[in-house]
Amino acid sequence: MSSHSSPGSFTGTSPVWLKTPDDVNALVPALWSATAEKDASGVLTVGGVAVPDLVANINTPAYVLDEADFRERARAFRDAFTGYDVYYAGKAFLCTEVARWVAQEGLSLDVCSNGELSVALRAEVDPARIGYHGNNKTPMELRRAIVAGVGRIIVDSFHEVERVAEIAAETGITARVMVRVTAGVEAHTHEYIATAHEDQKFGFSISSGDAFEAVRRLLDAPNVEMRGLHSHIGSQIFDSSGFEVAARRVLALQARIRDELGTELPEMDLGGGFGIAYTTQDDPSTPKALAEELTAIVEHECRGFGLAVPHLSIEPGRAIVGPSMCTVYTVGTVKEVALDGGVTRTYVSVDGGMSDNIRTALYDADYSATLAGRASSAGPVLGRVVGKHCEAGDIVVKHEFLPADIAPGDLIAVPGTGAYGRSMASNYNHALRPPVVAVRDGESRVIVRRETEDDLFATDLG
Ligand code: LLP
Repeated sequence: MSSHSSPGSFTGTSPVWLKTPDDVNALVPALWSATAEKDASGVLTVGGVAVPDLVANINTPAYVLDEADFRERARAFRDAFTGYDVYYAGKAFLCTEVARWVAQEGLSLDVCSNGELSVALRAEVDPARIGYHGNNKTPMELRRAIVAGVGRIIVDSFHEVERVAEIAAETGITARVMVRVTAGVEAHTHEYIATAHEDQKFGFSISSGDAFEAVRRLLDAPNVEMRGLHSHIGSQIFDSSGFEVAARRVLALQARIRDELGTELPEMDLGGGFGIAYTTQDDPSTPKALAEELTAIVEHECRGFGLAVPHLSIEPGRAIVGPSMCTVYTVGTVKEVALDGGVTRTYVSVDGGMSDNIRTALYDADYSATLAGRASSAGPVLGRVVGKHCEAGDIVVKHEFLPADIAPGDLIAVPGTGAYGRSMASNYNHALRPPVVAVRDGESRVIVRRETEDDLFATDLG
């Protein structure tokens, strides 16, 4: 199981996992939201809405969010992780409407910035069910969160320990906190999205003693309620061994706190990071299997240390919203490029790119793509879907078999773009960020509108 093709796994021009499809029109269901299907004429339908009809009204590029699928994935985590609190990690994708869905489905919400907190409060998410992350929260931001009654602030530095203690003392409001710890685990994911090894910015190191010291100071602070330890080991992770090592180290710290400070912290958060399938090379676990594995790991380690099992929580983002969304583009130009050995690669340029999906360029991520508006009887050719930005690394889908007759005007849909697609979108080259359209039971609703030139000029003072 892996999420990235390793450099050695290429045959000629394409990675070994990419198999020539029997039918280039067929969807691979595991990569799509639950309601996505194609009819006999090749038209992609999501949430009962035909994608060509949808984009005839709202244009491309557009993110299409399958509401029933999002809600179902949220519920699947909630139901599988019985006895846990499940915090949806809003950094993956957040807007006011989605924050409401999260609350309606009985999940809590993890925010990691003042802006995300604003969205959560605007959606009237119960502040007690918000967790607030970040390695550099300002005193003003912390004050806002404490005054709003945020349920837990995940403290990430000694400066923040002081700030929280000061604000709690000054306002007289009890600040409920967790301590973000670094367990020293090398998670098998891209370096930029691994977060539990020692040499990075997040958390207090367990091995150096800083994590213990942070807990000690917070336990001593008046008006601060120290709820527990928090460990997030990284993102797009498929293998539970990282969670196991992290849990052992975090619970060893929990035992040390009990032994030396005389208190068993009541809660523990295992973070998010559960992987999803972007291509056929990925084989993710189910929420049920994850719940069983993680619970067994924690129970086993607690027994070893003679600890009570703390109240547990997790923070999945990608695994809820990732597969719920696809991006729809229109093909603008098609170019055959001759490679070594007489092979050609078909470069298909679409009307978006790294401004709506930076993950391919930033993490070397793999995606897939399919024709969304018609069926093709042409054979498959090795294609690459690229954007319209002024940069050679502006690639959306590095490797995919596309029909040989793909042409300007064709619609292409890329599945699995819900996590960190719109949320990391930019205005690079003054691109206008695409809308998010929720589809459900044959109805569509724009929940984030497309940016306009007026939006661009709203901040450019001329
Ligand atoms: N909890 C904490 C403390 C986190 O830092 C993160 C992600 C999550 C939960 C949610 O992780 P998820 O379940 O979504 O994997 N932009 C990168 C991912 C960065 C993740 C940052 N933290 C990407 O596009 O892959």
